[in-house]
Amino acid sequence: MLFLSCSKIMITILFFLVCFGFSDGANVRPSEGRRGQWQLLLNNTGVVGMHVALTYKNTVIIFDQTGAGPSRYQLRRRFSGSTCTRSNHDRMDSTCYAHSVEYDISTNKVRPLRLDTDPWCSSGSFLSNGTLLQTGGNEKGTRRIRQFRPCENGQCDWLQSKKTLSDKRWYASSQLLPEHDRVVVVGGKRAFTYEFVPKISPGENFFDLPFLHQTNDNNEGGNNLYPFLHLSSDGNLFVFANRDSILLNLRRNKVIKTFPRIPGEGSRNYPSSGSSVILPLDHRDNFQKVEVMVCGGSSTGAFTAAAKGRFLEGLRSCGRMVITGNNHKWDMENMPKPRLLHDMLILPKGDILIINGAEHGCAGYDNARNASLEPYLYSPNRRLGARFTVLMSTKIARMYHSSAALLPDGRVLVAGSNPHGRYIFHNVAFPTELRLQAFVPHYMERRYHNMRPSNLTIEYGGGSHAIEYGKEFRVRFFLERKPSNEMEFSAYAPPFTTHSLAMNQRMLKLRCKSLVRNGDRWVVAVLEAPPSSLVAPSGYYMLTVVNGGISSMSEWVQFGHA
Ligand SMILES: *[C@@H]1O[C@H](CO)[C@@H](O)[C@H](O)[C@H]1NC(C)=O
Ligand SMILES: *[C@@H]1O[C@H](CO)[C@@H](O)[C@H](O)[C@H]1NC(C)=O
Ligand SMILES: *[C@@H]1O[C@H](CO)[C@@H](O)[C@H](O)[C@H]1NC(C)=O
Ligand SMILES: *[C@@H]1O[C@H](CO)[C@@H](O)[C@H](O)[C@H]1NC(C)=O
Repeated sequence: MLFLSCSKIMITILFFLVCFGFSDGANVRPSEGRRGQWQLLLNNTGVVGMHVALTYKNTVIIFDQTGAGPSRYQLRRRFSGSTCTRSNHDRMDSTCYAHSVEYDISTNKVRPLRLDTDPWCSSGSFLSNGTLLQTGGNEKGTRRIRQFRPCENGQCDWLQSKKTLSDKRWYASSQLLPEHDRVVVVGGKRAFTYEFVPKISPGENFFDLPFLHQTNDNNEGGNNLYPFLHLSSDGNLFVFANRDSILLNLRRNKVIKTFPRIPGEGSRNYPSSGSSVILPLDHRDNFQKVEVMVCGGSSTGAFTAAAKGRFLEGLRSCGRMVITGNNHKWDMENMPKPRLLHDMLILPKGDILIINGAEHGCAGYDNARNASLEPYLYSPNRRLGARFTVLMSTKIARMYHSSAALLPDGRVLVAGSNPHGRYIFHNVAFPTELRLQAFVPHYMERRYHNMRPSNLTIEYGGGSHAIEYGKEFRVRFFLERKPSNEMEFSAYAPPFTTHSLAMNQRMLKLRCKSLVRNGDRWVVAVLEAPPSSLVAPSGYYMLTVVNGGISSMSEWVQFGHA
């Protein structure tokens, strides 16, 4: 008996060591390496990538507005069935063109999707079963609720619900909630309210949110549209609009905290269009600490100035604030250059990629100048002053109505840009951009392949069901060399991205309980699923193994209740 319990302890200690301290010193930092590279994937996606979302079937849903007239994806037949002829009428008829496509990552091809009403400037969240719930838009689409149920066979398409939203939602934001598999949709043009989808009772309406009145810059296009939403680890909703932020208890319809105003002039939300993320949640504090980061935006008066052809320099500053606990203060720092209209994506290691955008002006048609061609990598745990790395420049401007998405293979898809109400390719400062690119971060390079965990499989008892909160599961992978001292396991909720905002984006650094590498170089890690839907709303996550900064390809896992 003694021997047995001793060996158990021995094994635990050994496993602990292997999990966290098996060092061969390798850890790649971007400053030592190259700065990444760019790939041109397609010359013509057909439609502007104004809204993009990666599905768990490894396809990317891309859509534009339906009101932009002819796109560059011409249909032989309308979705209603009638033939599109070569007549002038049909060549100009918007219904003879696709306004949404599905991009298949493995084949590098797009296929057209059907939209019945206009989803322009809408919002979206993935539900627990991986279905995209997309809300709002313009005109006939402004109260619409649509679903996209991802598939592998090229047969799925948009479904428009008969149910509608209680308020008009143009430029609203959406967040999946921990309970009842439903989302909250907040704000929109002249919509100073929020509401839930689906409703729990038939009589349920929207709720007033005076904060959206208070943050509205009427003469400057609002500056509080597309509010930044983040789900805190206590289940409350963080809402940031213009320069201010609150914590909203949705169960009681009550503002329970008002945070300090972010320092500096200017505004952060549409049409000032800065961006925001929450830094990765970490198992070491049981995923409790939640830290918000907001970067860039436009100077005061940028919207009215742009209307007169003057493009004010954007904001250079980023602010970080812990929204949990009782001590709230914005810690400020500067990006290498001013920036707006950019996207912020969390990379597998927990660094933040800042990509796309411009240096001057604001959002809106032809309202910006000076494309930001260089992505930045932000490493949150480095010392102040050493956190930004300037990455490889692209030649393609990605201005208003561009977007980006992290892919399971580690690349970042970049699409869109159209600062015009129609598709215009000539005689404008920034033409409509239909080229699809991938930014390939430096750690994806071939020279790191012997450090890269490969051939991941996820094993758990539940068969095809979700991994239950708090339960153990196993990840098996191949590793050419000994694991580094920094072996991490991240779970990433893929966002719905539009207008510089990645809704529902969230990363968790999971607990590794044991890790064994056999002589044949296969590794088995026992991981623990997040403890609850408060810290990880149920749904599909991309699981990535990161060995000394070198990430594996991601595999999908679903976390959920029993
Ligand atoms: C895009 O077009 C250019 C110029 O015609 C061509 O050289 C290139 O091969 C094309 N790339 C792709 C990915 O189709
Ligand atoms: C996913 O859940 C939604 C909401 O409950 C439902 O409408 C949809 O049919 C489900 N999708 C699939 C593929 O089962
Ligand atoms: C911004 O672009 C304008 C042209 O639109 C150019 O004149 C100006 O020099 C650029 N400014 C910077 C800082 O690059
Ligand atoms: C990993 O997968 C690739 C492609 O499926 C395969 O060629 C390779 O042999 C696998 N590696 C190992 C160690 O099994």
